[in-house]
Amino acid sequence: MDKLSRLVVLISGNGSNLQAILDACQTGRVSAQVVGVVSNQALAYGLVRAKQAGVETMILERTRGQERNTYDAILADKITALNPDWVILAGWMRILTMEFLGRFPNRVVNLHPALPGTFAGTHAIERSFVAWQNGEIDHTGVMVHLVPDEGVDVGPVLAKEEISFIEGEPLEQFEQRLHELEHRLLIETIQALTSRSKE
Ligand code: GAR
Repeated sequence: MDKLSRLVVLISGNGSNLQAILDACQTGRVSAQVVGVVSNQALAYGLVRAKQAGVETMILERTRGQERNTYDAILADKITALNPDWVILAGWMRILTMEFLGRFPNRVVNLHPALPGTFAGTHAIERSFVAWQNGEIDHTGVMVHLVPDEGVDVGPVLAKEEISFIEGEPLEQFEQRLHELEHRLLIETIQALTSRSKE
């Protein structure tokens, strides 16, 4: 059997994308295993999902006054111990410094619910929805990209796909459609990365 790629997934919240990854590993859709899930939020529901899947979890909250570099060095040490092939940011809502990124060059992958160069940062879905309501855009999208540096939601694009708005559709339903697209695109990208890394 082929060696499974080792994934460490970083989360901050619900973890629906983490769930998509766990499911894809479970069914063999991707040739990978999640060897650890790290959250910077103790109450992130994604931690429950990871535990249910029997995956090792870790909570690493930033302490009051802690330097970003210090936090990132500790995070990098903990993740290095898990020996990952890929570090997946699946709803990880902290900007990582080079202290961390320099330890995993070309190995950190981020998911963002917008197209390259648009709606970087938090609440991208809501902000794109408002922009559509204001007639500023007629579509948005989802992207998966490498994280080379401290830029927010920017880096070499691995995959992107557009999604249209539907007249009269409430935000909640649009969000649900967008999340379904995210889950598919993220899995397709991980599948491509992990089969490539075995060549
Ligand atoms: C996802 O929509 C992801 O694209 C977004 O956080 C959400 C996490 O959902 N990430 C960003 O906005 C990064 N800037 P999940 O916890 O259910 O996977």
